Amino acid sequence: MGKFVIEGGQPLKGKVKASGAKNAVLKLMAASLLSDTPCFISNVPKIRDVFTMVEVLRWMGAEVDFDGDHRMFINPKVSKAEAPYDLVSQMRASIIVLGPLLAKYGKAKVAMPGGCNIGSRKIDLHLKGLESMGAEIEVKGGFFEAKTKGLRGTLVPLDFPSVGATENILMAAVLADGETVIENAAREPEIVDLANFLNKMGAQIKGAGGTSIKIKGVRRLKGVNYQVIPDRIEAGTFLIAAAITNGEVTVEGARSEHLELVISKLREAGAKISEKDNEVTVSLSKRPQAIDVAVLPFPGFPTDLQPQITVFLSLAEGISIVTENVFENRFLYVDELNRMGTDVRIEGHHAIIRGVSKLYGAPVKATDLRGGAALVLAGLAAEGETIVSDIYHIERGYENFKEKLEKLGARISIIE
Ligand code: UD1
Repeated sequence: MGKFVIEGGQPLKGKVKASGAKNAVLKLMAASLLSDTPCFISNVPKIRDVFTMVEVLRWMGAEVDFDGDHRMFINPKVSKAEAPYDLVSQMRASIIVLGPLLAKYGKAKVAMPGGCNIGSRKIDLHLKGLESMGAEIEVKGGFFEAKTKGLRGTLVPLDFPSVGATENILMAAVLADGETVIENAAREPEIVDLANFLNKMGAQIKGAGGTSIKIKGVRRLKGVNYQVIPDRIEAGTFLIAAAITNGEVTVEGARSEHLELVISKLREAGAKISEKDNEVTVSLSKRPQAIDVAVLPFPGFPTDLQPQITVFLSLAEGISIVTENVFENRFLYVDELNRMGTDVRIEGHHAIIRGVSKLYGAPVKATDLRGGAALVLAGLAAEGETIVSDIYHIERGYENFKEKLEKLGARISIIE
C-alpha cells in the first residue's frame, strides 16, 4: 500500500485547478439509472470512489465508458437491480442507487453498508422516506430488499438535513406518481447539481438549494450531456494548504459562493483572500490567529473540511475550538496529528486546539479520506519528514493529489 513521503517547510505557490466534485458525480452516475437513454457526464474526476461506482453500475449490467478525458458515457439499461456487498462496503455512497432503482424498476437489492470510520452513519431517514412513498423494505442476509407496486408522491419531512437521504428521496420522487415535498432538505451545492441534471433529463424539481424541495413526478426521463460542478472540498483543501504553509495559491474552479464560510473563517484567522469568477486566491505570511469553527450542514462550515481546518488552527496563536455537529466520531485523525507535536484535545464533539509554533514530521497513518488529507497538510507545514501511510483513503477523493501539490512546490513523493 502506498505512502506519501513529505519534506515539509515549503510554502505552496502558484495555481491549481479543482477537479469535478466527487460528491456530485457519484449521484449523477446513480441518477443516470433513471434515464431511458444514455447520458454523457464531463469533468468527471479520476478517483477511486468514481471507479467503484463504475463497477457498481457495470455489475448491474449498465454499459459505462470512462475515457482518458474525464468524460463518462453511461448506457443505463440494467439486467439486475442489485448492488453487492464487496462494492458497497468499499464505498458507502453506493446506497444512493436504492432510490433510482426502486423508481425505475420497482425493486432493488442493495447491500447494507455496515461500519464506517467517521461515525455510525445511519440510513434510517433514507428508508423512512422511501417507505412513506410506498416502498416495502426488508433486511435479508445483509441486504436491503426493497420493492414497490408504484411510488407515490407525498410529504417527506426529514429529522435532519441528510445529504444522502435528500438525494435518494429526490431520485425516487422524479418518477413517482404525483407530487413529493421534501422538508428540511439538505441544501448542499451537490444537491443543486443533481436537481439540475435531473431537470435537464426532463424531471420537474423546484426549490433545490432551499429547505423545501418540490418534485412533480414524470413518466420518463431521457439521457443528457452534463458537466459536473467543481469540487468545493478539494478547492477548500488547497486553500487551507496554501495558508498553512504561509504560501499563496490560486484555486481555479473554486466557486466562492460554495465556500463562503471557509473563506470568511480563513479571513478571520488572518489570511488574505481575493475572489473572482470561478477563482479564489489565498495567502498568509504569518501564524494564523486562533478562531472558533462550528461545523454545520450547508451553508455552514463543511464537515469534510473539519480535519483540514483543525490542522491549520493547530498552528495558530491562541486557543481555538472546532465543534463537529454533523458526524459523531470525526476526530479519529487527531491521535495521529498529535504525534507531530500539536496540542489538540477532544471533548465530546469539540476539539480544543492550543496552538503551537511548530509541527515536527513523523510517520502517521491516514484514518479516513479527509483526515488523511489533513495529515498531508500537517506534513507540508512541519519541519522534517512526514510519512503518511494508508493513502488509499486519500485516493478515494483527491485526483492527482501528489502531482497537484508538487506543481505548487511541495516536496512530496509516493513509495509503495
Ligand atoms: C455526504 C457526503 C459526505 C459529507 C456528508 C455531510 C457523499 C458521497 N458524501 O454523506 O462527504 O461529509 O454528506 O455533508 O456525498 N444520518 C442519519 N440518518 C440518515 C442519514 C444520515 O442519522 O438516514 C446522519 C448521519 O449519521 C450523519 C449525518 O446524518 O451523522 C449526516 O449524514 P448525511 O448528510 O446523510 O451524509 P452522507 O450523505 O452520508
